[in-house]
Amino acid sequence: MPSRIYEWLDTRLNLKPVQRTLLDEPIPGGASWIYVFGSVTLFLFVLQAATGMFLALYYAPTPDHAYDSVRFIETEVTLGWLVRGLHHWGASAMVVAIGLHMLQTFLYGAYKSPREVMWMVGVMLFLLVMTFAFTGYLLPWDQTAYWATQIGINMVGTVPLMGDFASRVLRGGEILGALTLSRFFAIHVLFLPAILIAGIAIHLFVLRRVGPAGPWTDERASLSAETFAPRQVYMDAVVIAGVFLAVAALAISIPLPLTDKANPSDTSFVPVPEWYFLFYYELLKYVHGPLEPVATWVLPLCVILIMLFWPFIDRNPVRNPIRRPVALGGGILFLLVVFGLLGISIKNLYAVPRADPSVARGRAIYAQLGCVGCHRIHGEGGAVAPDLSAVGDTRPDREWHVKHFRDPQSVSPGTFMPKFPLSDEQLHDLTSYMLSLKRAT
Ligand code: HEC
Repeated sequence: MPSRIYEWLDTRLNLKPVQRTLLDEPIPGGASWIYVFGSVTLFLFVLQAATGMFLALYYAPTPDHAYDSVRFIETEVTLGWLVRGLHHWGASAMVVAIGLHMLQTFLYGAYKSPREVMWMVGVMLFLLVMTFAFTGYLLPWDQTAYWATQIGINMVGTVPLMGDFASRVLRGGEILGALTLSRFFAIHVLFLPAILIAGIAIHLFVLRRVGPAGPWTDERASLSAETFAPRQVYMDAVVIAGVFLAVAALAISIPLPLTDKANPSDTSFVPVPEWYFLFYYELLKYVHGPLEPVATWVLPLCVILIMLFWPFIDRNPVRNPIRRPVALGGGILFLLVVFGLLGISIKNLYAVPRADPSVARGRAIYAQLGCVGCHRIHGEGGAVAPDLSAVGDTRPDREWHVKHFRDPQSVSPGTFMPKFPLSDEQLHDLTSYMLSLKRAT
């Protein structure tokens, strides 16, 4: 039956040549599992587009409603949490897939003549995807979103001559506010998809013109050419299914944190960017003063230009990576720096809370004894006693706390804070929790 329909359509629409271009593309050396990442990236883009469309049904791009609309998607909309989770983890997966796709192209020397144009379009696509990630990060309009974007735009502002103008264009004015949000939303859901789809079309058009590169030795390439269908299609489909299951598993098992609603006056908030920007965030910590522009724009610009024009920098026609020690060494060094910085950054992020389990026990004691009736931490609790949100900064002395808890009157004569009957161990834990309450981690 399906074949009869196909024939019926074919006699009218002349489908055979289309099928030939789409499925009968010869792959030198035959199909391989290593070639799947381009298709995986394309699939993830389709997943992002589909989940994004559903999110847009409920999302409201204004400072008054953005946060609540994301909350609503997360808690009220049927399967809204799943769609948001897929979109969130799909973005991460897309960065990984593009990374592997570029790594494979680099290792196989597939960017070399005659495929320079395809590589350059690919680098542009990679940059577009990072812009997608950056603009999407602001949309939930929570504290992290707001302050991470603030940092990003400030970095753009450090570019000489045009930085000030560019950051004003991004913000839609002097401050990060309503115009910024609607601007980022429009860029994220209208401009970028249009540009990206055009870029993908060009990327695939060039692929059809020059053909896939195949293995790095001509002997192996000429051994057996094979068409794209059926084996490469099968391999792509298997990996795509695996990637989808992994993304769905992440979306189902890891709840997405939404920090407090964006508060432009709370300048003490320290945002943490997405993991794929973390290495860069770490780098920024090491450069200060006159060197700062090096990290905020000189270095990124150099890396982007080197990536873009790499086929003209590496003019060695040999494709076997073993016989390209300089290119291979450079690539490995680059990855070592990026992943080294990423590792340090993750370690710093998790070092504080992981190191001391007594902080968690102290937090439980704090809740048990009803300290919250008088004290406030991060906006929650009574207002009759000092706000403890940053008491670790203002009172860093452990002895002081222990003494104060044993007998508040002894250090603050006349205070109405009650004495609590606590064991030494509980005193220790509660104090650890107090000391962990800091403005910045
Ligand atoms: C009945 C209200 C009340 C309760 C309940 C209470 N406190 Fe207090 N607390 C105060 C008052 C008033 C002060 C300010 C005077 C002082 O230093 O004692 C204070 C001060 C503090 C300080 C010093 C803050 C600073 O910046 O100087 C800490 C730390 C503290 N409380 C922790 C706790 C913890 C932990 C609990 C729960 C075990 C708790 N408090 C329960 C009223 C309360």
